[in-house]
Amino acid sequence: LMTAAAAALAVTGATSAQASCEEGEMVIKFSHVTNTDRHPKGIAATLLAERVNEEMNGTACMEVYPNSTLYNDDQVLEAMLQGDVQMAAPSLSKFEQFTKVFRIYDLPFMFKNIDAVDAFQASDAGQAMKESMTRRGLLGLEFWHNGMKQLSANKPLVMPSDAAGLKFRVQPSEVLKAQFEALDASPQPMAFSEVYGALQTGVVDGQENTWSNIYGQKFFEVQDGTTETNHGVLDYLVVTNVDWWEGLDPAVREQLGNILHEVSMERNAAVGEVDAEARQAVLDAGGEIRELTAEQRQAWLDTMKPVWEQFTDDVGQENIDAAQSINN
Ligand code: LMR
Repeated sequence: LMTAAAAALAVTGATSAQASCEEGEMVIKFSHVTNTDRHPKGIAATLLAERVNEEMNGTACMEVYPNSTLYNDDQVLEAMLQGDVQMAAPSLSKFEQFTKVFRIYDLPFMFKNIDAVDAFQASDAGQAMKESMTRRGLLGLEFWHNGMKQLSANKPLVMPSDAAGLKFRVQPSEVLKAQFEALDASPQPMAFSEVYGALQTGVVDGQENTWSNIYGQKFFEVQDGTTETNHGVLDYLVVTNVDWWEGLDPAVREQLGNILHEVSMERNAAVGEVDAEARQAVLDAGGEIRELTAEQRQAWLDTMKPVWEQFTDDVGQENIDAAQSINN
């Protein structure tokens, strides 16, 4: 399914991140849902396309479709299996139809920061997760980071009881649903592109996301304020179609894989900076940020962390232990 915006793009040609592909070049479509500037994924995808289009000129050509202009995250993996798009980087919360291994990333307070996420992913267990969906036709190539999630609503959130009775938008993840149920709140799964409108019209009262998404989607404009909880992580998997990837000429596959790896290392090392800039941009635009005392944050942890017990079997106690030993 093509959105109207995508159809318009197809007719008019190109956005800045799109090269005009030449005859004989293999076209690689990269679809994602966020903005392109001051955003870890937007910046990484743009850089990836620039490098592919320069270094693989004549062989391959990458077109990036940001801002859900081609597909939203509910559609993109199906489109990939159909061969309509070759790469995407959905958040790890969006693979539930394909695997439960990524549920560990949604468990609240599992990772203390993005460095801990990075270290866990570098382990054998973390790397093996990239291949957890190959039987279903999807191959993970690299992890891309975003940042820690914050919480906002149409009223101040200081203690967990402030969230009780409110409706929160969630990504389509059973863990995230359980997390809000633990707060006596009601989770509403919804595509990223719909969240601003839903907050504005009161379809939902609140949401959780990273600074770059809160800034990029301007959620702060339609919320009372954002509470700096750092209660969870948002991380991505750059994913492709196994058959497409395996079918590439080996030299082409190697070059593309190497460029992607270098871009991933470079941009993952810079996410802290992008996150801090987005946080500052929220403040500069008049958004209110509430910091928690250690006691207040502990109250959120005490309320949310029991959710782990519901998912230990899916995630594996050994993975939880490994993640926790990295935190300490
Ligand atoms: C969300 O749906 O909130 C995020 O996964 C969007 C994104 O890609 O950062």
